[in-house]
Amino acid sequence: MGTENTPKAKPIILTGDRPTGRLHLGHYFGSIKSRVELQKDYDTYLLIADVQALTDNFKTPEKVHANVEEVAIDNFASGIDPETVKYVVQSTIPAIAELTIFYGNFVTLARLERNPTVKAEIENKQELFSKGVTYGFFGYPVSQAADITAFDANLVPVGDDQLPMIELTREIVRRFNHTYQVEALVEPEPRVTEIPRIRGTDGNSKMSKTLNNCIYLRDDPETIREKVFNAYTDPLKARKTDPGHPEGCIVCEYLRLVDPDGHEQLVSDCKAGKMGCMQDKKKLAELLTDYLAPIRERAQVYENNRPMVRELLREGSRKGQEKSDEVLRRAKDAMKINYW
Ligand code: TRP
Repeated sequence: MGTENTPKAKPIILTGDRPTGRLHLGHYFGSIKSRVELQKDYDTYLLIADVQALTDNFKTPEKVHANVEEVAIDNFASGIDPETVKYVVQSTIPAIAELTIFYGNFVTLARLERNPTVKAEIENKQELFSKGVTYGFFGYPVSQAADITAFDANLVPVGDDQLPMIELTREIVRRFNHTYQVEALVEPEPRVTEIPRIRGTDGNSKMSKTLNNCIYLRDDPETIREKVFNAYTDPLKARKTDPGHPEGCIVCEYLRLVDPDGHEQLVSDCKAGKMGCMQDKKKLAELLTDYLAPIRERAQVYENNRPMVRELLREGSRKGQEKSDEVLRRAKDAMKINYW
């Protein structure tokens, strides 16, 4: 291997997004922001998990196809540096598919059944799985373990719903290495964003496209305004002078994200009946519009140059293939699948 490939051996990050829609504030504060901050200190691989997305969107592949570029644009627009970060499309990495099969030997069905994230997802997809849960969907945590280990990731920045996947990955790595008595795979650590999960504009505990309660990173100022004005606030605060309960208020929650320094004052003004919900909404709409403006502007540059976006993905995927083939070789050597 050329030394130019390993200049300073920074620790490696791998994280990923399912390409099922544009990214919203939940994604941004939950993971995009932290990956942007970490990219300088880590050798970063970002995975567009199109194969994983297909496990519950196999009937609508055009949706996944269309969102591969959109998710990439949202990441680049948020500040991911396409020069240093390797942006990889999952389906172009054969090593991930192969490792997924091999890892199947180190995971029991009972272990998969205990995954709380997958359980909750299955609950929400009764219709898709009306004839039973597919092997592909049920097993996607195994392929996620392959995603992570295929790049020797040391660190996986994720939201807390992904912790069961990282835990499973760690178990697989330990079993694999222990079984073959080699350090073939790297055991990753999770890194969870400290910010609690962002709720939807309707007050639902999750911002999600299916719940139609998202503010997207590329929403225009009009749309932001409209969504903010319709957002859920304290139902007990009918008048400005009523004492408010900011704890449950979405407007208060979002204001904290875009204006952390003003938060204490805001809470006390709301409770004291000095600030009304309408005033707060106006303030939020303005601050959020400003906050997202640079992202929206950068996104436009990429939207206007899609061949460049595709080229960045192609180049990132090529580098990802190189790295993951190396890992696959180590895994195969350990399993003695190396005949000539
Ligand atoms: N399961 C993740 C999600 O739903 C996406 C994902 C796929 C991922 N592969 C990954 C995250 C590897 C971290 C590491 O958001």
